[in-house]
Amino acid sequence: MSLLIERDVSLKLYNTLAVDVSARFFVAVHSLEQLQDALAWAKQQGVAVFLLGGGSNLVLTADLHALVIYIQLRGIQLLSEDAHSAQIEVQAGENWHAFVQWSLAQGFSGLENLSLIPGSVGAAPVQNIGAYGVELKDHLESVLVLDRETGQTQRLSAEQCQFAYRDSVFKRESGRRVILSVIFKLPKQATLHLDYGHLRSYLAEQQVLQPTAQDVSRAVCAIRAEKLPDPQQLANAGSFFKNPVISAEHAQQLKQNYPALVSFAQDDGSVKLAAGWLIEQAGWKGVRQGDAGVHAKQALVLVNYGGATGIQILQLAAQIQADIFQRFAVELEIEPNVMGQVNTPA
Ligand code: EPU
Repeated sequence: MSLLIERDVSLKLYNTLAVDVSARFFVAVHSLEQLQDALAWAKQQGVAVFLLGGGSNLVLTADLHALVIYIQLRGIQLLSEDAHSAQIEVQAGENWHAFVQWSLAQGFSGLENLSLIPGSVGAAPVQNIGAYGVELKDHLESVLVLDRETGQTQRLSAEQCQFAYRDSVFKRESGRRVILSVIFKLPKQATLHLDYGHLRSYLAEQQVLQPTAQDVSRAVCAIRAEKLPDPQQLANAGSFFKNPVISAEHAQQLKQNYPALVSFAQDDGSVKLAAGWLIEQAGWKGVRQGDAGVHAKQALVLVNYGGATGIQILQLAAQIQADIFQRFAVELEIEPNVMGQVNTPA
């Protein structure tokens, strides 16, 4: 077997929150065959498995007594194209933003609003990543997975992935399937989505009057860079909470007390609130407790100033959750995956 299994490897460089825990066993896999060998090894040794992609949506709370499998399957393949669209298969280990830039350079649109999201292509369907009014599901055709229960590969249609806001079957049945590749269908004629936030006004300020998909990508990168910390400079896992969805009645009551409440009516009559707004109102923006903090420019993002543990970040999150519940009767749900309970020692 050509696997290089390392022992006691620090995961600090493998999670964007830069939490320093270690993996008892660690292996990078570059092919389906290596992945299958790694899974077989773990089974034989009786150790649990933890699948790692870009590590950008992860809170590690303890050393992992597991085999951490770092998915490094690479490659982008144009499967077919006609006058209107292209069908592209991307391997799970490709970097998301690099793929978005590649697609735009080829003249394919659709993913421009999702520029600069950290992480890998294989992790993107788990959360159904979304930004500026576009979600991954809008352009995803299917996902190829290895089903660990059957040992077989299986292709799931977008519908079978059961995508919802920051949710999917991969999140709900965590650990069951390993995402190997994703197939996208991208239009050649761009239909731009400019209605979220300051996107349209930003482009106008830049005197971009007839924006292309590439222009939108540049604008999204600039807007993100203003508010969201670059994990290379200030460790973070993106939005730490989901934006909560509440009943219209509840939203109405809150609006009476807080006329500036930021809310978005949903198709089913419910109302989505901007959690960042609630957290800022409650006075948490910029708060620092040791090395764990609330980002000074975006209250939805928790940051690690250097030495924070996953537990310390979660303790800060718990205080915020309790305070928001007390003030607004709104429950905030943590967005990233919390991991540390993989506890099957060899
Ligand atoms: N707001 C505040 N104070 C803050 C943060 C936000 O008042 O500290 C207000 C803003 O003024 C705005 C509203 O809240 O009116 C929404 O803010 P923003 O556009 O920054 O987006 P968000 O709802 O905080 C979501 C996603 C982000 C995504 C942006 C843009 C979630 C959980 N987060 O954040 O995704 O980039 O919209 O589409 O849905 C991520 O998932 O990791 C992520 C960064």
